[in-house]
Amino acid sequence: MFPRILYFLQFFTLFTVTFASIEEATALPKWKATFLSQNNSLLTSWTLSSDACRDWYGVICFNGRVNKLNITNAGVVGKMKSLEVLLLDRNNLPGPIPTTLGDLTELKTLYLSSNHLFGFIPRELGNLKSLTYLDLSTNHLTGPIPSELGNLINLIEIDLSKSQLTGSISITIGDLIELKILYLFSNQLFGFIPRELGNLKSLTDLDLSTNHFTGPIPSELGNLINLTEID
Ligand SMILES: *[C@@H]1O[C@H](CO)[C@@H](O)[C@H](O)[C@H]1NC(C)=O
Ligand SMILES: *[C@@H]1O[C@H](CO)[C@@H](O)[C@H](O)[C@H]1NC(C)=O
Ligand SMILES: *[C@@H]1O[C@H](CO)[C@@H](O)[C@H](O)[C@H]1NC(C)=O
Repeated sequence: MFPRILYFLQFFTLFTVTFASIEEATALPKWKATFLSQNNSLLTSWTLSSDACRDWYGVICFNGRVNKLNITNAGVVGKMKSLEVLLLDRNNLPGPIPTTLGDLTELKTLYLSSNHLFGFIPRELGNLKSLTYLDLSTNHLTGPIPSELGNLINLIEIDLSKSQLTGSISITIGDLIELKILYLFSNQLFGFIPRELGNLKSLTDLDLSTNHFTGPIPSELGNLINLTEID
């Protein structure tokens, strides 16, 4: 495993400096060249003489275009503008979540769980209008849940559990009408539980436990007829 400082540098190099609109044909090798460690054993398959779509570790293509990059647990990070799926969970990533993630407007799935991320959840994530799965759980995130996340009306699952988030739940949560799973447990959220949660008719799993909420449980939660799990 790399020392933590390398993760840190990779994170920032890739997310802030190398943000460029380059052709996909050459994008991956260029992106690879920005890795601080060129001898990551997981990436030795990434050579120009082989077919990226067929032979490269973690690269999944759709119609000949890189569609998905799964480097879960591989110790490397990066980004490409056309990405729809970004799985960076369990990578020991430190530092804040880069606001430039909000530029990856094609993203449908974003997993950053089980890292060492701290700081606020950037409100720029509210730009990711295609997002259906968002998992930032098990980090050290602080501050409130940005109300801009209410823009992500295609979200099916949101997991912000196991951090140090504070503030109250924004009423914009009620805009996420496709939401099936909402996990906010094990944070330091406070205030009233918004009655707008009762708009989320598709919810099957709701866990708000281990927080500091006050006030009554809104009667509107009785509208959530598909709930099978509530904590
Ligand atoms: C890269 O490989 C060299 C030689 O095997 C090794 O000494 C070095 O520690 C490796 N670097 C990283 C970052 O893994
Ligand atoms: C990502 O890759 C890991 C390791 O190869 C695999 O276990 C996992 O199922 C993959 N996840 C997705 C969503 O493709
Ligand atoms: C509730 O669940 C049923 C059965 O799975 C499904 O047909 C229905 O669409 C769900 N209702 C909502 C509002 O998601």
